Amino acid sequence: MTASDAQAAPSFNQGGYIHTFTPEEQQRLVDQALFLEPYHHALVDFGAAQSILEVGCGVGAQMSVLLRRWPRAHLTGVEPSSTQVARARTLLAPAISAGRASLHQAPGDALPFADQSFDAACVYWVFEHVPDPLPILGEVLRVLKPGGVFYATEVFDKALSLYPPCPETMRYFGAFMALQAEFGGDPNIGIRVPGLLAQAGFERIGITDVSPTLDARMTVPADRAAFLAYFENLLLSGAGPLIERGRIAPSQIEAVKRDFATLKADPAAVFSYGAKQIQGFKPV
Ligand SMILES: C[S@@+](CC[C@H](N)C(=O)[O-])C[C@H]1O[C@@H](n2cnc3c(N)ncnc32)[C@H](O)[C@@H]1O
Repeated sequence: MTASDAQAAPSFNQGGYIHTFTPEEQQRLVDQALFLEPYHHALVDFGAAQSILEVGCGVGAQMSVLLRRWPRAHLTGVEPSSTQVARARTLLAPAISAGRASLHQAPGDALPFADQSFDAACVYWVFEHVPDPLPILGEVLRVLKPGGVFYATEVFDKALSLYPPCPETMRYFGAFMALQAEFGGDPNIGIRVPGLLAQAGFERIGITDVSPTLDARMTVPADRAAFLAYFENLLLSGAGPLIERGRIAPSQIEAVKRDFATLKADPAAVFSYGAKQIQGFKPV
């Protein structure tokens, strides 16, 4: 985030952003959207929607998945960080040239669109980073057409479950969650989102557990290795801010890596990362 981003977007979390905006983190978002696609797009049904809005689109990683999965829809992305929007413009250049995608720099609680502009809308991993998702939900409701569907996919970090027990990783993740909360976010926002949708005025609200889980049913070694590598990278994406603020010692990183090596070597290992998908509709 730049200083001008902060001025342009007062709701953009001023306290900090646990994942950072480095080029490595931007690439992690691209890899993440593809890796998690089977878990977090399979149940999303945009039906015959011709216009889909993603709020907090980051570098456009989910938009590129959505463009492929919903080939008849136009995708609009909104994102407050100029750094992320610049990367999204590159990633989505072919879709933008083809008239299938557009990008806007704005915060989610001040959407630059007229009322009833979109058939459908979504957010992925945004509410966990903002102090109050309700103004964003109010804006999403305003710009949706009556009957329009909205999906939010958000974390429920407290549900992280590991077998065999990995106390060093749990300690690290405790520090990660605490810093995210200090930054003004909520690493357990997932279970609160249905209530927030109701408060904002959505109806027909549902919540589904979409926690990616590795256990002994995943038998292909390459799949197990890719799964654990993804989550090791996700957890360690907060290492820079945690070390800078003295919340963990650098040696904690090595301890987390040792835990992941143990998990990789154990065919009975379990790794379950809490995530919730919430659906709601704008009343007709
Ligand atoms: C973890 S990234 C997710 C990006 C994208 N949705 C994805 O899944 O690849 C969270 C994004 O939320 C954005 N964000 C933070 N505060 C926001 C706000 N008030 N309104 C909209 N987006 C916001 C951040 O700049 C960041 O790009």
